[in-house]
Amino acid sequence: MCEALISLLQLSDSPGIVYVSSSAGKLEYVSNEWAKAVLGDVENLTEERVDGVLSQYLKDYKEGSWETKGWPAYLSAYKLSKAAMNADTRILAKKYPGICINCVCPGYVKTDINYYTGI
Ligand SMILES: NC(=O)c1ccc[n+]([C@@H]2O[C@H](COP(=O)([O-])OP(=O)(O)OC[C@H]3O[C@@H](n4cnc5c(N)ncnc54)[C@H](OP(=O)(O)O)[C@@H]3O)[C@@H](O)[C@H]2O)c1
Repeated sequence: MCEALISLLQLSDSPGIVYVSSSAGKLEYVSNEWAKAVLGDVENLTEERVDGVLSQYLKDYKEGSWETKGWPAYLSAYKLSKAAMNADTRILAKKYPGICINCVCPGYVKTDINYYTGI
């Protein structure tokens, strides 16, 4: 979606993209060491590498071996999707240095996603 809209954003004097991420996507919560190394290798990040991590996660999840392979046991898909989105943010920000591209964590907010337990 971002790639599709970037030509419009480039017409702006101060274009920006803010991804809504989560602190749950921090690399410290990606317990699979291989995935952590790939996503943390900022200089060599590519979309293909990020997709490779997600494909491996999905494969292990479908086979029921995600815990033994070191993927997070709790909220694993959420953590992985946010970690991948953070990596995508870095890739896009590098590709489009003229656009301010960031991701944020909104904090623990009272919404549907946490059954209004947020603060
Ligand atoms: N709330 C928190 O404490 C918290 C903390 C950290 C990060 N975040 C992040 O903040 C963002 C917003 O979450 P929220 O707290 O506002 O939760 P929310 O109230 O549950 O809102 C989630 C929104 O995503 C939409 N959605 C879900 N699946 C979708 C799909 N497959 N395609 C299109 N839209 C979809 C939902 O649409 P419908 O209403 O139509 O279902 C809803 O509008 C999320 O990315 C979440 O990870 C939230």
